[in-house]
Amino acid sequence: MKTRVTELLGIQYPILQGAMAWISRPELVAAVSNGGGAGILTTNWGPEQLLRDIRRIRELTDKPFGVNTNHGLRNVEDREEIFRIIIEEKVPFVTMGAGDQRPYIPVFRAGGVKTICIVPKTRLAKRIEAAGADALIIEGTEAGGRIGTLTTMALMSNVIPEVTIPVIAAGGIVDGRGMAAAMVMGADGIQMGSRFLLAEECHAFHPDNVKRLLEATDDDSTEVGLSRGKGMRGLRSPFSERYHEMEIAGVPVEELNALAAEMSRKVAEEGIGADGMNGIVQCGQSVGPLKKVQPAAEILRTVTEEAAEILKKAPGLLG
Ligand SMILES: Cc1cc2nc3c(=O)[nH]c(=O)nc-3n(C[C@H](O)[C@H](O)[C@H](O)COP(=O)(O)O)c2cc1C
Repeated sequence: MKTRVTELLGIQYPILQGAMAWISRPELVAAVSNGGGAGILTTNWGPEQLLRDIRRIRELTDKPFGVNTNHGLRNVEDREEIFRIIIEEKVPFVTMGAGDQRPYIPVFRAGGVKTICIVPKTRLAKRIEAAGADALIIEGTEAGGRIGTLTTMALMSNVIPEVTIPVIAAGGIVDGRGMAAAMVMGADGIQMGSRFLLAEECHAFHPDNVKRLLEATDDDSTEVGLSRGKGMRGLRSPFSERYHEMEIAGVPVEELNALAAEMSRKVAEEGIGADGMNGIVQCGQSVGPLKKVQPAAEILRTVTEEAAEILKKAPGLLG
């Protein structure tokens, strides 16, 4: 499949493996890139580990991959060091999405790194395009991980006609039907997170979480923190129930933040814990088709083949 995203990144399939905090390790990233998509690493472990991770990816693949800088945007020293490493190591592209990323775009452009920004609304999408980003990811509230309020469908309707750079759709896309729908809506590619949690090479996804995800139904999908402007989607747990009770009771945001501190890391490393209070297993709303663990390359191939089949049949709808 050839789109502006495959051309931009030099990949076979227009599919990105979304960055996943504390989970996107070099083995997963390289498996996705070797499979014809684009794997994306996270910077959660800080600059020194980032350098080791990039070098490990290069041992495993000579294909393009990206780094997500969200975590590294938090404090100035880390940010500068992380940016320097990404540029010096000639990482092909970055994705970033924490707030307004316009100041960082020229830094990467000057360093020869392609910049893909994750946006939750049209106004920011237009500003980011004007600032020189190479592509956009529009991520709907159906997605696993940190979320905004607009759905993927609304974002595709609103943003795609307003920008000229390639757009990658994310949030609730887990199979070829979702991919075909996004392409018909005008997206140039898709990003999936949840589906890749079940990649064989996703070793950092705790075995308890794998089991929980395989058993999940859409009833289990919930979010925490959206009422305080910091939403995160995943599977219902004693933690999410407690969090909702506290939100309804109007507990101050500092107390909620304290409850959720280190949640992503704890759940990734230990699962939700015996009492279920470590947090939530982050994943998107489209859990129905997530029924097996399989190699990343197989995920990429089957999703693209399903999408191609559907797109081939689409003209039949016209009678
Ligand atoms: C466990 C998990 C952790 C995530 N962490 C990040 C992150 O650190 N940075 C980021 O930009 N997106 C993050 N995301 C979002 C994904 O990159 C991707 O956009 C999203 O999963 C797409 O929706 P889907 O889960 O329905 O496929 C995360 C998603 C999951 C499931």
